[in-house]
Amino acid sequence: MAVPRNIALTGFMGTGKSVVARTLGRLTGYNVVDVDTFVERESGMNIKDIFESKGEQAFRDMESAAIERISRGRGQVISTGGGAVLRAGNMEALRLGGGVVVNLRATAEAVYERTRHTGHRPLLQVDDPLARIREMIAEREEYYENADIVIDTGELSVMQVAEEILEIIRWKR
Ligand code: S3P
Repeated sequence: MAVPRNIALTGFMGTGKSVVARTLGRLTGYNVVDVDTFVERESGMNIKDIFESKGEQAFRDMESAAIERISRGRGQVISTGGGAVLRAGNMEALRLGGGVVVNLRATAEAVYERTRHTGHRPLLQVDDPLARIREMIAEREEYYENADIVIDTGELSVMQVAEEILEIIRWKR
């Protein structure tokens, strides 16, 4: 694989996209761009407030606009939100001009452990988050699998995940 224009990380909430993105950024010299952070900066609101006051569809539109803008750049590690894969147009934008899409997989239990003490994810603010996580992962599985590279994060450390990605794309330092 040629040096990718951008490396996009997809995956369910709590699969480690942000930390892996930071590590990949250090290893490659690429800039790390977080789509949720971009949306928050553009709108002047946090994700939770956007969901509450404007609704999920409005957030999805802002997310797509952000992905479209970010994907025009190059030399970036792009960390997407867990639902970004749901729109085919987002995936197309991320692949534009040679961008590679990586999916990080984790079990529902691992996601639950990583997200249970955080309160900033509106879709997990329910009575039984583990059941909700299982349901959503099942619903989204086919979209996540549509990535160019799928990494089972399982017992891997953040560094091991980042190194595996670079090995698969044959990154030359
Ligand atoms: C979402 C994931 C979140 C954020 C929003 C919706 C989702 O991002 O975009 O809360 O639909 O899975 P993270 O995956 O970074 O938590």
